Amino acid sequence: MRLKDCHNFRDFRRLAQKRLPSPIFDYIDGAADDETTYARNAASFGEVDLIPNVLRGVKDVDLSVTVMGQKLDLPVYCSPTALQRLFHHDGERAVGAAAAKFGTMFGVSSLGTVSLEELRKKHSNPQVYQFYFHKDRGLNRAMMQRAKEAGVEVMMLTVDSITGGNRERDKRTGFSIPFRLNAKGLSQFVLKPAWGINYVRHEKFSLPQLDEHVNMGSGTASIGQYFTEMLDPAMNWDDVAEMVDLWGGPFCLKGIMSAEDAVRAAEIGCAGVVISNHGGRQLDGSRAPFDQLEEIVQAAGDRLDVMLDSGVTRGSHVLKALSLGAKAVGLGRYYLFPLAAAGQQGVERAMGLMRDELIRDMRLMGRTRIDQLDRDNLRFRQGGLP
Ligand code: FNR
Ligand code: LAC
Repeated sequence: MRLKDCHNFRDFRRLAQKRLPSPIFDYIDGAADDETTYARNAASFGEVDLIPNVLRGVKDVDLSVTVMGQKLDLPVYCSPTALQRLFHHDGERAVGAAAAKFGTMFGVSSLGTVSLEELRKKHSNPQVYQFYFHKDRGLNRAMMQRAKEAGVEVMMLTVDSITGGNRERDKRTGFSIPFRLNAKGLSQFVLKPAWGINYVRHEKFSLPQLDEHVNMGSGTASIGQYFTEMLDPAMNWDDVAEMVDLWGGPFCLKGIMSAEDAVRAAEIGCAGVVISNHGGRQLDGSRAPFDQLEEIVQAAGDRLDVMLDSGVTRGSHVLKALSLGAKAVGLGRYYLFPLAAAGQQGVERAMGLMRDELIRDMRLMGRTRIDQLDRDNLRFRQGGLP
């Protein structure tokens, strides 16, 4: 199987599985506990049907949106994800370049493997800096200052990871940052020598957003440990309100699931919220973001921009979310598997397929602009949302 044989998410996933040592594949693919929320995220889009209109003249389709003041050519963006150079040696460089090519926003994680400054210098498309709230308040301030000096447009605080999710696949392989694998996990690396040779031939693994502040490179810290030891479970709304003030630009909370919290985010001055359950990787049993979207848009959509991620793998998923009032939609594994499969070329192919799908589906829906989508485009099936 080659890149040109990849026509959808499932194909990219299969190719990534072929290329990656299984502990790394399982880290990307896996989710929390029984992975029921992960499955539900994808299924939720199937309970709503699109109602197309015809004969409306749909020659030119404009997919652009404005979200948190950022103009994007596409209504999808690359959500921040950790450790990308483990998946492909170009990591964030590949994702940033592909996002730039498609004129959309991309996120750089606190646990990213390329520095936010390097990426900010290289591209002019809007960049999000995703961070976690550390026990060390000085560190939080320093990280924000650094992002501000680099010229990052949007600050995104992830609020659903106050403690590490229970990723049982990682427990089985012993996956940690970077490799502290148990014997079973290690044996899987031997089965993918091409990945290993490539990995050692490239720049040494590092976490440039954290390296100055946190000793994560020794091979002893797992992601779970980072969450439990470094992050502050006491974080509350007052802490975040202070950060929003300090940032002074567009600030958003990623991992909001309730209307009440979205309203609160608006009250402390956030420009946006991302309805997300972290791709099912945190609280298993949590509702799917798509199922919560309408309620949250109704409660807070006039005060801030509502975005959504988790389980989005098709243009039709995106159109359904936009019809319910999302301003843009985040992609996670949708671009990570292509990255692992083929680096920048892979991400570009995936983004190209998504753009084509969006244009085709907009035409089939009888729409030429994103703001022509609304709830009248949708019908909920019985047993779905009211
Ligand atoms: C993530 N996600 C994530 N989120 C975040 O705020 N900071 C991070 O460092 C990461 N890292 C990360 C790594 C991997 C391997 C995955 C799969 C996900 C969550 C991500 O931004 C997004 O919310 C989900 O991926 C969305 O779900 P889908 O699209 O993968 O189903
Ligand atoms: C994850 C963290 C790093 O989902 O956000 O693995």
